[in-house]
Amino acid sequence: MIILGIDTSCDDTSVAVLREREVLSSIVSSQVPVHALFGGVVPEIASRKHVEVIDTVCEQALGEAGVSLADIDAVAVTQGPGLIGSVLVGLLYAKGICAATGKPIIGVNHVEAHAMAVLLEKEVEFPFVSLIVSGGHTVILRFEAPGSYRIVGSTRDDAVGEAFDKIAKYLKLGYPGGCVIEDLSIGRDRGFVAFPRPMMGEDAYDFSFSGLKTAFINYFRHGTVPPEVIPDVLASFQEAACDVLSFRTLKAARDAGISRVVVGGGVAANRRLREVFLERAGQEGMEIHFPSVALCTDNAAMIAKTGFLYAHEGRFSSLDIRGYSRMVRTHAC
Ligand code: KG4
Ligand code: ZN
Repeated sequence: MIILGIDTSCDDTSVAVLREREVLSSIVSSQVPVHALFGGVVPEIASRKHVEVIDTVCEQALGEAGVSLADIDAVAVTQGPGLIGSVLVGLLYAKGICAATGKPIIGVNHVEAHAMAVLLEKEVEFPFVSLIVSGGHTVILRFEAPGSYRIVGSTRDDAVGEAFDKIAKYLKLGYPGGCVIEDLSIGRDRGFVAFPRPMMGEDAYDFSFSGLKTAFINYFRHGTVPPEVIPDVLASFQEAACDVLSFRTLKAARDAGISRVVVGGGVAANRRLREVFLERAGQEGMEIHFPSVALCTDNAAMIAKTGFLYAHEGRFSSLDIRGYSRMVRTHAC
């Protein structure tokens, strides 16, 4: 079976071709240089850029894979959540292909797809608990099987990637903030500032990152911070975020009696986060699975993979599916 995957949920235009377990091509056209000028994604610009490049990106993906639209069995496309103008570009493009060729469409939840990304590289047995951390989402999902999941916890305010991006913007470090902060933090004092660990004591599985972001900004507002210690302050911020994310996720898995954890989304590229998870999961005898870095950030291969799993079960969508901007429980158990 050959699946064409399309993702335009945020600021990357991505198209991939998957044949069974093999990714034949995966093209990601990044808009980062455009949005970097503004220190964050400008939704109106993002959707216009998707319109400009999607056709070329799709042709490139088909060309690299050595297939034509006639060879495709189904088109899997991000239906949401994401910036709605951006989501609609990919969704309407996919509908156009399907209407013209008669191929079936599969609407995919972008956050669910982040959790499936790791399955492109290895087998992970279900059930598992999954943490998805990106610029738009911080959510813990419990998967019973492909397409069968429920939301266990999520952020009550900012997504963790958003907090990284906002503090990087505050210090004018560049966009996206996550990788800059990670690089500056390497080898620095992670205990330099004792930032709050929001909600660590509580029983819920939810997160809150707006307090941590405010504590960081207040640290700079309330005194002069010598430039040479800024990386130590950043390392302390990163440590607090990693601490909360791993603590809550492993607790959710432990409480559910599940010993397999999958982490995905852009922030899962962070090496310190991987280290903390591996260390703690090891201590608790849990399996922890991260996709490789290229599959953490937005890509259409993960959309194609999710579509492949759905197609295998005959779960196709109708051509009148609608895009959505917020996390909804499609096909949830
Ligand atoms: O999954 P993604 O590419 O797009 C969304 O669906 O949001 O995630 C982008 C987010 C940004 O907030 C970016 O700052 C963050 O992932 N990010 C990182 C790292 N690389 C990207 N955060 C921490 N450490 C990183 N190495
Ligand atoms: Zn994403």
